[in-house]
Parts: sequence; C-alpha cells; structure tokens
Amino acid sequence: MDTAHQTGHEQATLWNGLGGHSWVEMQELLDQILKPFENLLVEAVSLGPGGRLLDVGCGTGSTTLAVARERESTPASFVCANAQVHAFEPASFDTIISRFGVMFFDDSIRAFANLWRAATDNAQLRFVAWRSAAENPFMTAAERAAAPLLPNLPARQPDAPGQFAFANDRRVYTILEESGWAEIDIRPIDVACTLPEKELVRCLTRLGPVGRILQETDDQTRAQVIETVRAAVDPYVHGAEVRFAAACWLVSAQARSKSAAPKIYSNLNPGEASSRTEGIMHSSRSPSLADETPEIRGETA
Ligand SMILES: C[S@@+](CC[C@H](N)C(=O)[O-])C[C@H]1O[C@@H](n2cnc3c(N)ncnc32)[C@H](O)[C@@H]1O
Repeated sequence: MDTAHQTGHEQATLWNGLGGHSWVEMQELLDQILKPFENLLVEAVSLGPGGRLLDVGCGTGSTTLAVARERESTPASFVCANAQVHAFEPASFDTIISRFGVMFFDDSIRAFANLWRAATDNAQLRFVAWRSAAENPFMTAAERAAAPLLPNLPARQPDAPGQFAFANDRRVYTILEESGWAEIDIRPIDVACTLPEKELVRCLTRLGPVGRILQETDDQTRAQVIETVRAAVDPYVHGAEVRFAAACWLVSAQARSKSAAPKIYSNLNPGEASSRTEGIMHSSRSPSLADETPEIRGETA
C-alpha cells in the first residue's frame, strides 16, 4: 500500500500513474485483503430513504458498490476528480465514507472543509485510515529490509500526504475540528487481514515505495531485493496464508450546521475549485429512482 510522497502534486502523479495502475491491476487481491474494512464501513453507515452517500477516494469502487448493494435498487455513479477542490453540489450528501482514501490531500483542512460544504447539516462522516508505520510493521517490512539495497528509497515523512498521513490522532482531530466537523470520535482498531502466500511476492514488488522503485531497478538488484524482503516477511507466513494485523483508526464525525461555517471556509473560492477539477466522468443513474432512493457516489483521483 502507498506511499512515501510529500505533496499533493506528487500524490496526483502517483495515483494517476504507477500507484493507480497497480491498484487497478491488483483490484481483486486488494479488495480481498481489505474486505474487513469494507464490512466495517457498510455496518457503520445508516443511510435512510432518499439519503445520498459519497465515498471519497473510492479507487476501483468496491466499498461504494458494497454500500449500494446493501440498499436494494440504489443507483451508484462515479466521478473522477480531486475531492479537495471539486465543486460538489452544496449540502447534498447525508453520509461521507472512505476506505483509506483521505490521507493524500496536500491541504487536509481545506479538503475536509470542501467535504463539509458538500455535506448536509448533521451528515455522518465515517472513514478508516492507517495508524503509524511503527504500529504497522508488516506494511513497512519491505522498505526496512530493502533500504540497504535501494539507496534512492524515499524515507517516510511524518504527517506528509501518503499512507501514514493520519497516524497522529490529535492532528486528525484538529483537521476535522477546523474544517466544520463535530462529535469527533477517533477509535483505534486492529483488524486481522490475510492474503494467499502465493500472492505475497506480487504484493511486495508492486505496491508501496519498494514496489514503485523496483519498476526501475536492474534485474540483479531486483532479484536481491525480492529475496531480502521475502525473508523479512517470513514471520507473517502461516502455510498457504499470510496474516497481519492492520493498525488503523475508525473515525466518525458529524457535520456542523451550515450556520457554523469553519473559518477556513471563508477562504475557499468555489470558482477556483471548479477550474481545478480534472477529468470528471459521470456514469448515468436511474432518473426514475434518483429522488426516492439513496444515491451512492464514489470519488477518486
Ligand atoms: C489507498 S487507495 C484506496 C482506494 C479505495 N478506497 C479502496 O479501499 O480500495 C487511495 C485512493 O484515493 C484516491 N485519491 C488520492 N488522492 C485523492 C484526491 N485528492 N481526491 C480524490 N481521490 C483521491 C486515489 O486515486 C486512490 O484511488
């Protein structure tokens, strides 16, 4: 899983390039590994009749579609845009969720204020994000082991956009508090995840900073790195299965009333927001059902 990059621009390049391609190619496997989080989010949302839900950073859309499936006849549509600045219809979503899709903004307060603007009063926010790299040794085992062989491997930067940007719960609390969210609850969860052993090397060589650097590494170094990182993750292998604990936060919050706009909001410029939106793609939804049934939308970059 990604990533060690530092700016929103680098994140956009990553997710529109190598990182995004790997996630698409490995969709089935990643959805299998992350299925417990999908279940958790599906259980955590209560979408009433006529409710609309936004899944931020939805990737290949597994969680979006799982929520839609839970509610019969619910249409789902997808938009490709930067959720930090996208000109969402104001006050249009009753629920906003994300499975590991909100840690990549270059300005998180601005991004969550933009989501608050898209949320109805008292809308629910529910997302999962990784705790620290230190608490997730499986996730970082490959880079620790490979570092001596890959001098260009970028070091993780605390709080920088990327996989572990929300490691510090006090920082997450401040981001949400300053961007229009109340009733903030940040709960540690340790989730048992598995993957087939036969997929382990593919994961190690395609995902995360090591996976990315290996795309440009000579064959000899590549072989050495694979051998080294495979040995480093051996303690997680139990026969045909790899098991690890994912140390995460389950974050819940509620949108403050629009009469209590966050300070940051007065600095947002909706014109700038729409002009920075890139590559929006709408798929059609059923007009006959649209007004009576909940609508689910996914948002990715
Ligand atoms: C770790 S993947 C998670 C994908 C998906 N939620 C899942 O669980 O399978 C992170 C996702 O966030 C998206 N993303 C990153 N920055 C974004 C942004 N500024 N706006 C919208 N989506 C973004 C990426 O394109 C990617 O699909």
